[in-house]
Amino acid sequence: MVVPTFYVLTKQVITVTIHLEFLIEMAEITVNIIDREGVNHELVGPTDMNMNVMELCKAYELPVLGECGGMAMCATCQCYLESETELPEQSDAELDMLDQAFFVKPNSRLGCLIHLSEEIDGIVLRLAPEHH
Ligand code: FES
Repeated sequence: MVVPTFYVLTKQVITVTIHLEFLIEMAEITVNIIDREGVNHELVGPTDMNMNVMELCKAYELPVLGECGGMAMCATCQCYLESETELPEQSDAELDMLDQAFFVKPNSRLGCLIHLSEEIDGIVLRLAPEHH
C-alpha cells in the first residue's frame, strides 16, 4: 500500500509535538506559597533551569525580597515548610543564617536554598513575616 507523503509527515509532526508536550510537562512542578495575608498562590516552575523558590516567588512578583541574591546571607526569603515534603538536610550556612534571623520556627527554611526539583512537587510553604 502506498501511503501519501502528506499523511506520513503529518503523523510525524503530531508524534513529535506530543513528545515535546510530554517533556515540557515533566519539567515543571507546582509550588504552593501562602502569602502573609494567608492567600495560597499555586506557582508553576521549571526543574531544568537551576531555579530556587526565592527566585520563583520573585518571578511571580510575590513579596519576597531575596536581598542577598540567594547567598544564604539575609533570611529575607525565610518560609515555613507546611507539607510533608522531604527536603535535603539544612547546610551549616542555612542553620547559621536562621540562627540570626527573626520569627524562626522549627520548620523554617531559606527559600533560596530550596531548588526546584521533581522531589518537591506540590510543596506548601508559608512566607515568614518581614523582619524590617
Ligand atoms: S535570599 Fe538571602 S538568604 Fe535567601
